[in-house]
Amino acid sequence: MQTDATNTNEEETTPNDTDDGFSRRRFLSRGVSALGATALLGGSEWWSNGVSEALAQLGTPNGPNDETFWSGVRGQFSFEPDITYLNNGSIGVPPQEVANAVIEGYLKMSANPAVQEYAMIDEIEATVRPQMANFIGADRDEVAFTRNATESLNIMANGLELKPGDEILTTTHEHAAGLDPWLLKSQRDGVIVRQIRVPSPPDSVNQIVEAFRSAINEKTRVLFFCHITRGPGLLYPAKALCTMARDRGVISAVDAAQSVGMVEMDVHDMGCDMLASSLHKWVLAPMGTGILYVRKSLQKKLTPLIAGSGTWDISESGSGRYECVGTFPVPLRAGIGAALNFVSGIGLPNIIARNRLMSDHLKTHVADTPGLRLMTSPLYELSSPGITTVEVDGWDARSLSKALQERYSISVGSDTGDGNNGLRISTHLYNTPREVDKLLDALNGLMRSPM
Ligand SMILES: Cc1ncc(COP(=O)(O)O)c(C=O)c1O
Repeated sequence: MQTDATNTNEEETTPNDTDDGFSRRRFLSRGVSALGATALLGGSEWWSNGVSEALAQLGTPNGPNDETFWSGVRGQFSFEPDITYLNNGSIGVPPQEVANAVIEGYLKMSANPAVQEYAMIDEIEATVRPQMANFIGADRDEVAFTRNATESLNIMANGLELKPGDEILTTTHEHAAGLDPWLLKSQRDGVIVRQIRVPSPPDSVNQIVEAFRSAINEKTRVLFFCHITRGPGLLYPAKALCTMARDRGVISAVDAAQSVGMVEMDVHDMGCDMLASSLHKWVLAPMGTGILYVRKSLQKKLTPLIAGSGTWDISESGSGRYECVGTFPVPLRAGIGAALNFVSGIGLPNIIARNRLMSDHLKTHVADTPGLRLMTSPLYELSSPGITTVEVDGWDARSLSKALQERYSISVGSDTGDGNNGLRISTHLYNTPREVDKLLDALNGLMRSPM
């Protein structure tokens, strides 16, 4: 049963009460002004207030191989000693200050919920939401906070009204969280999901664009693809594909679970209509955080999945309507603010350069080592900075990843979709080239004693 301490609407229920969809009236109706509550706290919070002191002390990196700087970055995390975590593509690791923002949020809720809940919400609306929008090149009322990419991808597929026979054009590279919502819609509403096969790795950007161009037809209503694939870490030419869709009057929907925070993102420049991402991977935000971007002009055509906080009315635009899940974990959003400050404080271009240093090193080693085969493209325009996938002779990828974990405390992922048998190595700013070497040494050892 809902208690009084919910984020759902109580007295106010008409859609007109919403401004850009994030109704302030429903916060005010509890008798404490959100602004007043912030004033009680004495102003903005550390997690919403730019770069932390600890990070500021590190200064700026003198290039991607400035080991002093990057080991200082590593020092901001609380890994157990002697573990090597090369699996950011599965789940990112929040730095201590992100975890602290969440802990502090819950402690405040325990101390004075009536005041602190609205104070935090007010602070989040004033700082975290615009910062998030800015991070992906969107306007603030085009971004909805969700629990993860899966939720956002389901809103995309279920919110669009399509007729039986309408086609969704996608690929065989999609993650189940992106593909399955369309398959479910296909079963329920009779839409057709067409998956084109893109070679992995492709020879050129043009090969991908042409594969879509030759498959798009008069029944195509949606073009859906991963910006960066989960497995080989293939980087899709998102702007060219979204432009193609727009030129044909087709809606473009992008699964960016592996790209927000791994590469620079400008959704307006990309020209997508919708984009989904988790924030607990490359943005290093707390587990259970994600976003959905919906271009303003599409918002009146995309229905929310859940109604219940007075923000459902489809005749109004505003991304707030896609956020309704009832009471939501407010402190997690404080953690998003801290994570955005952390990543932006170090600088995404610096992080990309650091990841390229490590993935280049991996690729060179793989090219020089018999028994290892690169499944990721060697070309920058087709490969992501943070994910490199490798096939290892004599080993099934899942058994190999288990052996690395059990014998060497090295965590990696595996890529067994689309007929692949790859070990997925995903690095982030907390990793070091020495850890990559540790993995390569371990692989050498395991290749001498196959399964
Ligand atoms: C490409 C892609 N899309 C969607 C998802 C689903 O993300 P989540 O489980 O955070 O919803 C993942 C997860 O690995 C992914 O790699």
